[in-house]
Amino acid sequence: MSRGKFITLEGIDGAGKSTHLSFIAEHLRALDKAVLTTREPGGTPLGEMLRDMVLSQSMHVETETLIMFASRREHIDKVIVPALEKGIWVISDRFTDATFAYQGGGRGIANERLKLLEDWVQNGLQPDLTFLFDVSSELSHQRLAFNQSLDRFEQEKQDFFKRVRDSYLDRAHAFQHRMRVIDASRGIAEIQTELGSLLDTLAQ
Ligand SMILES: Nc1ncnc2c1ncn2[C@@H]1O[C@H](COP(=O)(O)OP(=O)(O)OP(=O)(O)O)[C@@H](O)[C@H]1O
Ligand SMILES: [Mg+2]
Repeated sequence: MSRGKFITLEGIDGAGKSTHLSFIAEHLRALDKAVLTTREPGGTPLGEMLRDMVLSQSMHVETETLIMFASRREHIDKVIVPALEKGIWVISDRFTDATFAYQGGGRGIANERLKLLEDWVQNGLQPDLTFLFDVSSELSHQRLAFNQSLDRFEQEKQDFFKRVRDSYLDRAHAFQHRMRVIDASRGIAEIQTELGSLLDTLAQ
């Protein structure tokens, strides 16, 4: 049995990650793949407790960064790697690119520090494919305006999201072999046609 593939969904708040997660899972199931969907921070019982903390409590940016990686350590060990080894495809709503974009680009933690934590926690694990749902900070703001209860990140100013977006785009440029930038300002149907054909290629 071949190892499952690891797909991650990235982009600033309101870009459409959660909107496209179930489409991606259903598309792959239709191609006879076993699929598990999950998210970060979170994805395990302990990780979900850490998620609640990091989304609601104010804290030092290094504490925030370490919690992201602590949650990720559990997630990799308890969920992601065991599933991939069973041949299951894993789709995660956010992974490490988000830490580089938010805690790095957004909050100013140096890339070298994040890289050290990444190497430590991931032990070489990287996504096979990452969709970067790209929208402007203005469009993100408009989409989130309908949301009544914004978390600690969603409440950030537009300037923060500009830095996060730029940081994501820099990574997409640096890691072209696995990252695909999806213009997520388009309609949902058009985006999903593109996602479907990229998934078909990966599943071949
Ligand atoms: N292509 C699109 N066109 C119009 N509206 C969209 C599109 N994609 C998502 N939306 C809407 O924008 C809002 C935010 O989408 P979604 O929750 O999927 O974003 P997200 O990337 O998961 O955000 P977060 O990081 O905050 O979880 C939702 O109300 C969703 O219905
Ligand atoms: Mg979401």
